[in-house]
Amino acid sequence: MKILVATEKPFAAVAVKGIREVIEAAGAELVLLEKYTEKAQLLTAVADIDGIIIRSDKVDAEVLDAAKQLKIVVRAGAGYDNIDLAEATAKGVCVMNTPGQNSNAVAELAIGMMIYMSRNNFTPGTGCELSGKKLGIIGFGNIGQLVAKKALGLGMKVLVLAPNPSEKHQGWETVATIDELYSKCNFVSVNIPATPETKGMIGYDLLTKMPKGGCLINTARKEIICEEGLNKALAERADLKYATDIAPVAYAELKEKYGKQIFATPKKQGAETGEA
Ligand code: 3PG
Repeated sequence: MKILVATEKPFAAVAVKGIREVIEAAGAELVLLEKYTEKAQLLTAVADIDGIIIRSDKVDAEVLDAAKQLKIVVRAGAGYDNIDLAEATAKGVCVMNTPGQNSNAVAELAIGMMIYMSRNNFTPGTGCELSGKKLGIIGFGNIGQLVAKKALGLGMKVLVLAPNPSEKHQGWETVATIDELYSKCNFVSVNIPATPETKGMIGYDLLTKMPKGGCLINTARKEIICEEGLNKALAERADLKYATDIAPVAYAELKEKYGKQIFATPKKQGAETGEA
């Protein structure tokens, strides 16, 4: 049995070592395809494999077609938005992910981004402190809850949009509507998956509800933000800020126009820790 680890952005060496040990102990063979640059390389590599482990790598219908023996896809991370689930289901291929595994790493990055944005992108000038500010959390799953706990530790007030929070009375307030959350919060952290319902849901109307100096932190998926609305909001309000772990499609242009108002990591950093 052959298991392919296909990572355009490689795992930490310690993770590959661990995966190899598990696979070999089960009598299977590990095939490693790291830092590939062309989809053709992935299509060739999947030809005779039984299982595939990926990160944000795309497993679409073409990849599934090329992988004639494939039985399982494991996405090391949150969400399934990079996998064609309908096609996998039609072909009887099982799809799994690892919710929670990267959560702390992503939550720490969200906090880091808040500090970076509130301190002038670490350039000279007067910034602001997080203590006493209001942080709204969109998406109260593994990552959202960890962001909330860390923010409370920094002295922030945390507002959560969650009709049924799984944990109660942990120091955060619940708000009834997304509009209320944006209107009240100095920072908003986006921690929801990209689904047909969430794609493009945050745009001009919500962003411009934020108080002066409002800052949106997105460690989820770029598709959740309506880029046109973001562009319009940043143009109209020089006080608004946006930091993201996945660059908008038109990032170069937005960066040129809005400078320190916008920041995107050069390559998705959320899960880039040895621990994750
Ligand atoms: C996620 O989306 O689950 C994490 O951010 C990990 O993504 P990555 O493995 O592509 O870095």
